[in-house]
Amino acid sequence: MSTQSTTTPAGNSGDAPRKKMTVPAFRARKGSDPLVCLTSYTAHVARLCDAQCDMLLVGDSLGMVIHGMPNTLGVTLEHMIMHGQAVVRGASKALVVVDLPFGSFEESPEIAFRNAARVVKETGCTAVKLEGGKEMAPTIAHLSRRGIPVCGHIGLMPQAMNTTGGFKTQGRDKDQWEEIIDDARAVEEAGAFAVVVEGVVEPLARKITDTVSIPTIGIGASAECDGQILVFEDMVGLFPRVPTFVKRYGTMQDMMIDAIARYADEVRSRAFPGSENVYGAEAKPDSKAKPRKKK
Ligand code: KIV
Repeated sequence: MSTQSTTTPAGNSGDAPRKKMTVPAFRARKGSDPLVCLTSYTAHVARLCDAQCDMLLVGDSLGMVIHGMPNTLGVTLEHMIMHGQAVVRGASKALVVVDLPFGSFEESPEIAFRNAARVVKETGCTAVKLEGGKEMAPTIAHLSRRGIPVCGHIGLMPQAMNTTGGFKTQGRDKDQWEEIIDDARAVEEAGAFAVVVEGVVEPLARKITDTVSIPTIGIGASAECDGQILVFEDMVGLFPRVPTFVKRYGTMQDMMIDAIARYADEVRSRAFPGSENVYGAEAKPDSKAKPRKKK
């Protein structure tokens, strides 16, 4: 796969033609225009987001958002590959990054490479993301030196919820700061092209951004990060309750509930399907439909 940028038409935004995002171009945005990132799990959502986004992340949050799991620990490589394939089909210019799920990369750098290579080959994505700081640095180095670009993920790491005791904001205690900054440095030195900084107090996220030379992508972090990411379904309001760090830019759930209720009413009253929704309908005496021409 070429790392050269290729010009593609603009999407829904009506902007001038934009180049397809590559890993070097993404990395070069450090300290420059904020990077716009969203999760996508399906081809349709990927198509919608692609016009505005620099990165589409096929996050393992799909376990909860799409599959109704209680956390991300049950997500498999097969889940990630299936959704990764869909998102790659829907994206034409954003960088598509696929999460390595829990259990697929921690055992050894070699196993991580085998699984990450499968993800890249079978989905056509450009890069993978994996959770972990210092302890994952050898794995990040192993992958990135062998042609698999890696986005790191530090701070709140959902895959570590059983050891940390849940989804807890990191760095509330200043004694934690040095360790998290060291994680960011280790991920950077290992060759990650960017790092997601999740659920850390704002001044720490800013400090990490000032410390590392790769873009930081914040979620529940700081406006000073080099980019931001949100889970698409949270952002468009598909869930009634969202954490503080999410801003709802839409109320999709309300619109969907309303549409479902109107559909149900019309099915029950036989208002749907109307004559315009069926084939070869005979004009009713009171219908305004034009009579069909005889051949
Ligand atoms: O899985 C995911 O969606 C993520 C983002 C929240 C960064 O890792």
